[in-house]
Amino acid sequence: MTTTTPSYVGSALDRVEGLDKVTGRARYAAEHSPRDLAYAVPVQATVARGEIRSVDVDAVLKYPGVIAAIWYGNAPRLAPADDAELAVLQSRRVAYRGQYVAVVVAETLQGAREAAGLVRVEYAVEPHDVELRADHPGLYRPDHVNPAFPTDTEQGDPDAALAAAPIVLEATYSTPAEHNNPMEPHATVAVWDGDGLTLHDSTQGAPAVRDTVASLFGMPPANVRVISPHVGGGFGSKGAPHPHVILAALAAKQTGRPVKLTVTRQQMFAVTGYRTPTIQRVRLGADTDGRLTAIVHEAFEQSSTIREFAEQTTVPTRMMYAAPGRRTSHRLVRLDVPTPAWMRAPGETPGMFALESAMDELAIACGLDPVELRIRNEPEIDPESGLPFSSRNLVACLREGARRFGWAGRDPAPRIRRRGRLLVGTGVAASTYPVYRSPSRASARAEPDGRFTVRIAATDIGTGARTVLTQIAADALRTSADRVRVEIGDSALPTASLAGGSMGTASWGTAVVRACEALREELDRRGGDPAGGVEADADTTEEINGQRRLARHAFGAQFAEVGVDADTGETRVLRLLGVFAAGRIVNPKTARSQFVGGMTMGLSMALLEESVMDREFGDYLNHDFAQYHIAACADVRDVEAFWIEEDDPHLNPMGSKGIGEIGIVGTAAAVANAVHHATGVRIRDLPIRLDKLV
Ligand code: MOS
Repeated sequence: MTTTTPSYVGSALDRVEGLDKVTGRARYAAEHSPRDLAYAVPVQATVARGEIRSVDVDAVLKYPGVIAAIWYGNAPRLAPADDAELAVLQSRRVAYRGQYVAVVVAETLQGAREAAGLVRVEYAVEPHDVELRADHPGLYRPDHVNPAFPTDTEQGDPDAALAAAPIVLEATYSTPAEHNNPMEPHATVAVWDGDGLTLHDSTQGAPAVRDTVASLFGMPPANVRVISPHVGGGFGSKGAPHPHVILAALAAKQTGRPVKLTVTRQQMFAVTGYRTPTIQRVRLGADTDGRLTAIVHEAFEQSSTIREFAEQTTVPTRMMYAAPGRRTSHRLVRLDVPTPAWMRAPGETPGMFALESAMDELAIACGLDPVELRIRNEPEIDPESGLPFSSRNLVACLREGARRFGWAGRDPAPRIRRRGRLLVGTGVAASTYPVYRSPSRASARAEPDGRFTVRIAATDIGTGARTVLTQIAADALRTSADRVRVEIGDSALPTASLAGGSMGTASWGTAVVRACEALREELDRRGGDPAGGVEADADTTEEINGQRRLARHAFGAQFAEVGVDADTGETRVLRLLGVFAAGRIVNPKTARSQFVGGMTMGLSMALLEESVMDREFGDYLNHDFAQYHIAACADVRDVEAFWIEEDDPHLNPMGSKGIGEIGIVGTAAAVANAVHHATGVRIRDLPIRLDKLV
């Protein structure tokens, strides 16, 4: 095939909104200040479980500039919510410490904050239970785990295989609760105009927010518009609306004023979701040559009392390695805690920490190189579904990573490499993330001046989505990228799936390609003349739902080198190197950022991130950057991401797999495995704090 236009897909186009961002022209949700704006500041519960007896707002209403103080006793009633977290101010019940119990609206932000501090809430306090334990009497088996996976699976006879295995590895791993901290905190500006509601919201998916808000306020979705052209990160925490969105709309409705509600960093720790803590039991049985005969992976995790959120922690274990005997399970306990939510690669991230740590322990038990152990257990087909893989290049990633990292000749003996005060070691782990794609719509328009406008309610949360959609559209239209304008971030645009599940580019790109193809056909029919403008649109529902069933996953290999201070136990990740197989890379510049960002978040998870439950008060006690540590520049030294050329014809018109989440998967295990190599100490409980090493 010959073509005269250059291919934008595969090229490192600069971010199309880069200049707007660095010059401050790009407006984020909280930067919208409509006329007559008022400010809302929520009041949060100070008990972990109980009932509101009374709310005294006398002093609040006397405070200068206060417009309203709203609580259960005077709040407008909402329609029943699927997600009880969103039924804000609809009940006297308190389900967790930090839950919204009132909101104060005032003329200024400072006034609203001050007055919110004057709200007196009396509670009938009940004893709370906030501690996840693997022997908790409240553990139960949820119907399914997110998004719709079976809770438990079993193949072959894993118990018999374990009983007969010459080598058995049995270990319990745990990961703490972790909190998403996108650079831009959550914010909503709510403006009512008669029966219509406009929200400027920091969200990963404007259409989902529109539909949820419309249903709670009993309105047709067409009466709600959600606008989010620029979003400063989300990592899953903005994947679905959290209660502040409802609170802002409710406060605006009650007061008849546009209302701005900016969630503070400290508030985020209770009200915008977090990664569930996990306790995971892994048992591996193997022959003396390292071939797995059994894998058993059991996860214990938590949710709130008001909503079931069941993380799919052991799901990756169902497809990673060949083994005739396999069992995976999830058990959940409902505690007096906030509801967990999505955090970058939910399920895969904690699950692969356990599995990939266990694989390292097994390699040592078998006397095998950990890269070789993984290669030896490569499945021919997806072991669970029996489906062929659309492409599976884990082995290529491991080999390429080993070559680039300088793995050959590694002495497996622990605690024998010194560099000054440092004990040095290296580790490896595999990575994976499923390939999802969701139906979306898009429109493409040929303007009379020869330019093109592509519209889709996609979201750019900092990933470069707007840029890659421009590239995809330019190729599909056979025009140059500077003639294409992509409009996203508005629920009034053709409806699209959310920026989550690493499926944005695949889902939206498919719709954009189909809309552009339809436009070209229409233009051909008209002899190429756009006259007063020609428009075409596309809906990918049939195409995506009719797609051939295959096991579609991205893979990767993570290599880490660490230095551990022999006296203090202080651990530094000296080098991280990842090699990924994720189909065609649409934009090497933005893709590299996604991989490196994911790996950095994995480094942070390995060494620093930990939300500590205060059993006495019943909430996470570290809720700011002084106490919840996230890797800073000085912690991140040498992180490199590479990818292999992967030509997979079973994906989408771009041939791409998702890249937003795989970078974090396996990273913490690679670091923990390197720490073992450096020190001889196996850390099975994240994070790897120095007190666990000395
Ligand atoms: Mo991601 S946790 O699917 O936004």
